[in-house]
Amino acid sequence: YLTIAGLMVAAYLLGSVPSGYLAGRWLRGIDIREYGSGSIGATNVLRTLGTGAGVGVLASDVIKGALAIWLVRWSFGSFPALPTNWLPWIVVVAALLAVLGHSKSLWLNFSGGKSVATSLGALLVMVPPVALGGLAAFALVLALTRIVSLGSMLGAVAAICTAFALHKPLPYLLFVSVAGGYVLLRHRANIERLLAGTEPRLGQKAAQ
Ligand code: G3P
Repeated sequence: YLTIAGLMVAAYLLGSVPSGYLAGRWLRGIDIREYGSGSIGATNVLRTLGTGAGVGVLASDVIKGALAIWLVRWSFGSFPALPTNWLPWIVVVAALLAVLGHSKSLWLNFSGGKSVATSLGALLVMVPPVALGGLAAFALVLALTRIVSLGSMLGAVAAICTAFALHKPLPYLLFVSVAGGYVLLRHRANIERLLAGTEPRLGQKAAQ
C-alpha cells in the first residue's frame, strides 16, 4: 500500500510541474498567470511567449501525463505481490492525479492550466484510439474556427464518445469521463467568452 501511495504522490507531483509558468519566468521573467487567459497551458504560452515556447510547453505537458502512467507500469513490475488486475485502476488514479496536479499545482498555490495536454498524454499511452478520436475532433474544430478552447472542449467530448463507442474497459471509461468532464469544467471562463463573442482566435491577442 505504501508503494501505491508513493506512486500516487509522485503522479500528482509530476502533474504539478508548472512547465508554462517556468517558461514565462525563464524566457521573459513574467508570471504567465497575469497574461492572456491566465492559464499556464500551452495555448496561453503560445499567445504570450510565442510559438516555440508554446510547442515546448505542449510537449512537456503531454509527456507529464504519459510519464505518470509509465511510472506506474514500470514500478508495478517490481512488486509482484500486487494483484495484476489492480494495475489498470492504479494507472487510472495516477493519471487523474497527474491531470489534477497540472491544474492545481502544488508549486503555484493550486492554480495552473486546463489539463487538456496532460489528459491527452495519459490517453495516448492508455488508450491510443481514444486519444486519436479526441485529437481528430480538436484538429477539425481548430482548423474550422481557430478557437483552441472550442477545439479542446469538443475534443474532450469526442474522446468520451470514442471510448464508449469502442467499448473500452471500465477503468479507461472512468478516466476519460472524469478527465473529460474536468476539462470542460476548467473551461468555464472560455465558455462565457465564447457566448459573449470575445474568445480570442489563434493568432489574436487575448481578452484580459
Ligand atoms: O488547452 C487550453 C485551451 O483549451 C484554452 O486555453 O488559454 O485559451 O484559455 P486558453
